[in-house]
Amino acid sequence: MESKNLRVCYITCFIMLIFNALVMALDGSPEHGVTGSPGQPVRLPDSDPGLQKAVRFAEGRYNMGSNGIYLRRVIKIISARKQLVKGVKYSIVAELGNTLCKKSEVLADSAVCDFHAEPNKLKTEVCAFEIWDLPWFSTTTLLKQKCQPDAPDTENSQIDAGALSPSAHDKKSVELLSEFKEFVAKYNRSYSSQEEADKRLRIFQKNMKTAQTLQSLDQGSAEYGVTKFSDLTEDEFRSLYLNPLLSQWSLQRPMKPAPAAISAAPPSWDWREHGAISPVKNQGLCGSCWAFSVTGNIEGQWFLKKGKLLSLSEQELVDCDRLDQACGGGLPSNAYEAIEKLGGLETEIDYSYIGHKQSCGFSSGKVAAYINGSVELPRDENEIAAWLAENGPVSIALNAFAMQFYRRGVSRPMKIFCNPWMIDHAVLLVGYGERKGIPFWAIKNSWGEDYGEQGYYYLYRGSRLCGINRMCSSAVVN
Ligand SMILES: *[C@@H]1O[C@H](CO)[C@@H](O)[C@H](O)[C@H]1NC(C)=O
Ligand SMILES: *[C@@H]1O[C@H](CO)[C@@H](O)[C@H](O)[C@H]1NC(C)=O
Repeated sequence: MESKNLRVCYITCFIMLIFNALVMALDGSPEHGVTGSPGQPVRLPDSDPGLQKAVRFAEGRYNMGSNGIYLRRVIKIISARKQLVKGVKYSIVAELGNTLCKKSEVLADSAVCDFHAEPNKLKTEVCAFEIWDLPWFSTTTLLKQKCQPDAPDTENSQIDAGALSPSAHDKKSVELLSEFKEFVAKYNRSYSSQEEADKRLRIFQKNMKTAQTLQSLDQGSAEYGVTKFSDLTEDEFRSLYLNPLLSQWSLQRPMKPAPAAISAAPPSWDWREHGAISPVKNQGLCGSCWAFSVTGNIEGQWFLKKGKLLSLSEQELVDCDRLDQACGGGLPSNAYEAIEKLGGLETEIDYSYIGHKQSCGFSSGKVAAYINGSVELPRDENEIAAWLAENGPVSIALNAFAMQFYRRGVSRPMKIFCNPWMIDHAVLLVGYGERKGIPFWAIKNSWGEDYGEQGYYYLYRGSRLCGINRMCSSAVVN
């Protein structure tokens, strides 16, 4: 049953990709390669040099993020557009396949790698990429990568079409509708019109299919399904809650390496059991996860050094940290520096969270906690665990794609859903352990207590999943 659902999903998604590609082809500007007014998408010919560069970049990130043995390359570009948004954003739909080169071979130029001839070894896939190029920072970021295996053969499609008898179909839509009604009641949603409600129902349906796909391919013990984000498209979710700046490595401020832990990591640790963690907070409709990740870390450091658990102000960082972009995203490394410059953080009560930027109302007389520097942790998960157990909760960042659909359990999504190079959410690592033999990280999120397990997300530990090991840092309090 599950595999059938999956196939239906693949067919639907593939049809949608083709449809999107057609829409793009029809609404694009007729002048190839000519830049339109800022913000307006422009269709590109395959030969566009910027597009070529973006495709090579996407291939590189794709290969780094996947488990396959063979290097995969773009066979053909199905559609490509660019848009000027604080740099250039490329939206590319392309077909990829296996080359004869192995990833382990070191190559000067992957363009010399020919494709596998037999379709079963070529394993074509259609991917939608979004690449954001900021030429003046010389940085390029993969904002989005969504791949589906190529259309299954017609025999399978016919079986599926036959299975969807009208009565089965009706039963399904009744189930879906009642699930949606439950969702609307539980999360107190109200839509402005019938059209809006219909649109949200369609998005809900699509999200339920994605949740099903994640569920059938999860290798941990997670449950995916209805969450409070189930009526948002992936793009809405990304722009409302996530933080693309986290993938901009070159904007990172260099930090001192953290001194290594003295002892090996104990088998499990949880700072919640030691009083170092404040209650779960809610960032609301603002991409300020970076601020919550950093205050959570400093609350822990302050507790361990000064013996008092405070709840510290994120709004101060949203309003006063000029190195970051308030609700538009930020980097923990910048935030530590901004806090040092400001002279410290006020408490949550003195400088309360409102979830949008206002003018800076910081007052040095109300500083409740200061920091004296910041450090960057090693990338080895065992070393991170050892450091955490000795020194306190850690600010981290990860790829949050699966988090939109997560309900409970230990999440272990397939790597294709969790490219470690597409880090877009900052959170707080508070502990680790094992559940029924599955090693996990315990992660404090900032999407309210009604998210995940009482506001927490549990992610598989030990395979650097979702890039969890790539941006671990901490403030230093003396
Ligand atoms: C539900 O939403 C309405 C309007 O958005 C609001 O006035 C009301 O307080 C909410 N109720 C709950 C229980 O959150
Ligand atoms: C740490 O920073 C605080 C506030 O800026 C300062 O008063 C204190 O002297 C610093 N401690 C050390 C050991 O540098």
